[in-house]
Amino acid sequence: MSIDVLHPRLEVTDLAASIDDTQILHGVDLVMQPGSTHAIMGPNGSGKSTLAQVIMGHPSYTVTAGTIRFNGEDITALAPHFRARHGIFLAFQYPYEIEGLPLKDLLRTAYNAWYAGTEKQIGLKAFNQLLDDKLALLGLDRSFVERGVNVGFSGGEKKQAEILQLAVLQPTLAILDEVDSGLDVDALRRVCAALIAVKADNPALSLLLITHYNRILNYIVPDQVHIMQQGCITKIGGAGLASEVEESGYVK
Ligand SMILES: Nc1ncnc2c1ncn2[C@@H]1O[C@H](COP(=O)(O)OP(=O)(O)O)[C@@H](O)[C@H]1O
Ligand SMILES: [Mg+2]
Repeated sequence: MSIDVLHPRLEVTDLAASIDDTQILHGVDLVMQPGSTHAIMGPNGSGKSTLAQVIMGHPSYTVTAGTIRFNGEDITALAPHFRARHGIFLAFQYPYEIEGLPLKDLLRTAYNAWYAGTEKQIGLKAFNQLLDDKLALLGLDRSFVERGVNVGFSGGEKKQAEILQLAVLQPTLAILDEVDSGLDVDALRRVCAALIAVKADNPALSLLLITHYNRILNYIVPDQVHIMQQGCITKIGGAGLASEVEESGYVK
């Protein structure tokens, strides 16, 4: 995949958004280059998940001002599935359990939906090869994808399943909302190792890590950290800003 040097991967400009007539985002700016890793940190309720949902085009939110550009194209009014087709991936904070649907089938359906109508559509044999490659990349056993989606998965395994989906779909922007939540140190380390492997496999991938705590940023060092408070980005800095916030809290 070539890296587009002409346009930022993501360019959010003066974005304001509401839900149920409550204004949540109040003029957010965010610029990410291809292949970069950014973190958004902020207290609970500051609008981090809202920003992720609005970038993905969740229909419950209304964009009241501003624009979202992806690879130079204005996607502010685009339906979510078209955003996905353009290469944006959002991992869910609370993944569902689906009894009777093996993870491999979900991944194949997701892949074919994602690449519908393109030359990247592949048959079962080629998909199985792709899946084996990505399982190897993440150090996961084939038996992992034979299991029902998330059924009986530990917190860490659910996150691994999300990252496997990310590896299979090969988006160019992945938004991970609190991928670190509820993980013990070992599970966190494994999830971060998986993310680093996916990134190495797909260098053009831009990663937007949304997190309340800075511990994930000890493993994945971001190019930029954005602090979000009450629906606004109040501070931008390098990786060091995350540890600053950890020590002194979000209150300035
Ligand atoms: N349907 C809704 N109506 C009004 N306010 C809402 C609704 N859903 C979420 N909110 C509010 O939006 C704010 C931002 O929430 P969220 O984006 O989930 O924050 P974060 O992810 O940073 O914890 C919170 O104050 C929350 O109470
Ligand atoms: Mg949230």
